[in-house]
Amino acid sequence: MAAAVSLFASVAFAAQAYAFDWGFSVPNTFPNLTACASQPPVYSCENTTAITDSCCTPTPGGQVLQTQFWSTYTGLEDQGQLLPKDSWTIHGLWPDNCDGSYNQYCDFSRQYDPDPSPAVLPDGTPVPPYKGPSVETFILAFERFDLLDYMNKYWINQGAPNDVFWAHEFSKHATCTSTYDVACYGPDYVEHQDVIDFYLSVVRAFQKYPTWDMLAASGIFPSNKTTYSLSQIQNALTAQTGSIPYFGCGGEDGTILEEVWYFNHVLGTEQFGQFKSIDSTTESSCNTTAGIWYYEITPTSVREVRTEPCSGF
Ligand SMILES: *[C@@H]1O[C@H](CO)[C@@H](O)[C@H](O)[C@H]1NC(C)=O
Ligand SMILES: *[C@@H]1O[C@H](CO)[C@@H](O)[C@H](O)[C@H]1NC(C)=O
Ligand SMILES: *[C@@H]1O[C@H](CO)[C@@H](O)[C@H](O)[C@H]1NC(C)=O
Ligand SMILES: *[C@@H]1O[C@H](CO)[C@@H](O)[C@H](O)[C@H]1NC(C)=O
Repeated sequence: MAAAVSLFASVAFAAQAYAFDWGFSVPNTFPNLTACASQPPVYSCENTTAITDSCCTPTPGGQVLQTQFWSTYTGLEDQGQLLPKDSWTIHGLWPDNCDGSYNQYCDFSRQYDPDPSPAVLPDGTPVPPYKGPSVETFILAFERFDLLDYMNKYWINQGAPNDVFWAHEFSKHATCTSTYDVACYGPDYVEHQDVIDFYLSVVRAFQKYPTWDMLAASGIFPSNKTTYSLSQIQNALTAQTGSIPYFGCGGEDGTILEEVWYFNHVLGTEQFGQFKSIDSTTESSCNTTAGIWYYEITPTSVREVRTEPCSGF
């Protein structure tokens, strides 16, 4: 019976795909990793000899931060830009150098950020604002509707449209992550493959760190009545990840919880490699003596996003 149902479902799906002419001619969306097989397997920032092939492991930029936001509003609610219920949201995936410094906007030929921040690099070079089509069109061109759907649910901007934020994260950070270098893709590179691969990697990394659920599992829920201590929040996540993440707070006294950054070393590429959590190398900006507010989202700023089936990555 089950087989009959699934046969029916696949026939129905094929018919539907045909009716809508969904080609799904999805091209390969990965770099050529053949040469990486001969590289010594070592976590980024833990190598004891020089890493010679920067396509195979993020170099420099081997301290990889999966960053998330906790927000109570988006500012674009009237345009349907809402926060996901019972989840933190994606900020990005950043390549810090092993010493904690970082580079930004490393390749102006892949500058898709309409509103660069910073507008001028520390060495005085202005970052040219991008005026072309949205990165959303890149995702559509690769027919990654699944990816776009997930990004619209979990990668939410504040005060500006989501796609501007996605473009910013790619051009500011991924252009400095060596494993997305166009040269790593070989002669068959299709323009914007690296962008799609980065977004897929961000989603995978985000899914390794379900902050809302981990806090909830320790009895820490958003509340406008009760505060938590920074150590309570830290301990809950450290118990699950084995490392101390960075917590960022806002408000005059640093008592409003807004951000978490999970630090990692990566074995292999950022696209497919193994992430190992490490302790934060940045001191928390949260108040260590006063209670921390983990505020409830404004009811009109949140929506349930888990009602539709969603594929994994
Ligand atoms: C990948 O790289 C290897 C080694 O450089 C090469 O032999 C192979 O042809 C490349 N494959 C593709 C699909 O470009
Ligand atoms: C690790 O590799 C990088 C890049 O090749 C190199 O700069 C660094 O010196 C290496 N670390 C050690 C301890 O050899
Ligand atoms: C922590 O909060 C207390 C009470 O609100 C405040 O007096 C103190 O200045 C805050 N500390 C920091 C470092 O912001
Ligand atoms: C909780 O408080 C925050 C900060 O004042 C506010 O933005 C939010 O709307 C409140 N949430 C609820 C459910 O009242």
